[in-house]
Amino acid sequence: MSEHFSVTATTGRTVRILVAESPARLGWAAAELLLQEWKAREGRAFRVGLPTGNTPRLFYSVLIGMGLEREIDFHDISTWNLDEYLDLPAWHPGSYRTYMEKHLFGFVNLPRENIHFLNGTTRDWKVTCNRYERLIRESGGIDLQVLGIGVNGHIAFNEPGTPGESRTRLVRLSERTVQENARLFPDPKEAPEFALTMGIQTILEAKKIVLLASGGGKANAVYESLCEPPDPRVPASFLQNHPGELIYILDRAAAAELPVPDE
Ligand code: PGA
Repeated sequence: MSEHFSVTATTGRTVRILVAESPARLGWAAAELLLQEWKAREGRAFRVGLPTGNTPRLFYSVLIGMGLEREIDFHDISTWNLDEYLDLPAWHPGSYRTYMEKHLFGFVNLPRENIHFLNGTTRDWKVTCNRYERLIRESGGIDLQVLGIGVNGHIAFNEPGTPGESRTRLVRLSERTVQENARLFPDPKEAPEFALTMGIQTILEAKKIVLLASGGGKANAVYESLCEPPDPRVPASFLQNHPGELIYILDRAAAAELPVPDE
C-alpha cells in the first residue's frame, strides 16, 4: 500500500509525494519509477544520476530483482554517481564505487563504459570536476536524478552553507556527516573529511528529480526542504527551484512533518 498527495512548496511549485508503507515498498516504488521513465525514452539513451547511502539499498536490490525477473537489458542506460570521497581508491571498501559495485553494478548487465564516477584519487580535482560537468552536458544531460537527503538537509555532499549555484567541486564534509558515514567504514577513523560532489546547480539541471528518504531522523530535513524558503542552511531546499518534475518517495516516518492535505 502507498499513499499519494501533493505539497505546494514555498516557491509555489507542486511536489508529488508518495508515502510507502515500508522501506521495501519505498525501494520498489523508486525502481518502478526508474523503469517507467526509461520506457518513456522509447529506446533513446537514458541517463540516470545515482546516490549512495543506506536508503537507496533496497531500491537497488529491487532493481536487480526486477532486472533478473523481467530479463532487462541495461545496455542503453548510463549512470552518473553524485559524489565520491577524496583520496580513496575505487577498490577501497569504503568508496562509493565499491558501494555501487556491491549494491548494483555487479548484478546488472550495465556496460562498464556507461558507468560514470568522479575520480577520488585525481591529482587535479578541478580538471576532474570540470570534465564531469562537461561529460554530463555532452551526453545530453541527466534524465532522472535519484537523490537521498542527509539529516542536516544535504543533497549529495552539498553541506549546509552551500550556495544554490554551486557546481561539481571539492568539499569538506561537516563533522556530522563524517560521523554518520563512519559506520560504513571497517575502521571508523578512516572516514574521509573531503569529497568530490556534483553541485546543487548541477543537480537542478536534471530533467526530473526523485528524492528518497526513510526514517524519522529525516522528517525535519524533508519538511524544511519544501516548507521553508530555499536557503543555503538546508541545501535540499533549493530543489524547490527545480523547473522540472520533483517527486519525493518517503516512508511514513520521513513524511511525518509534511502537511497532509484534507480529504
Ligand atoms: P542515508 O544517506 O541514505 O545513508 O541516510 C542519505 C544522504 O546522506 O544523502
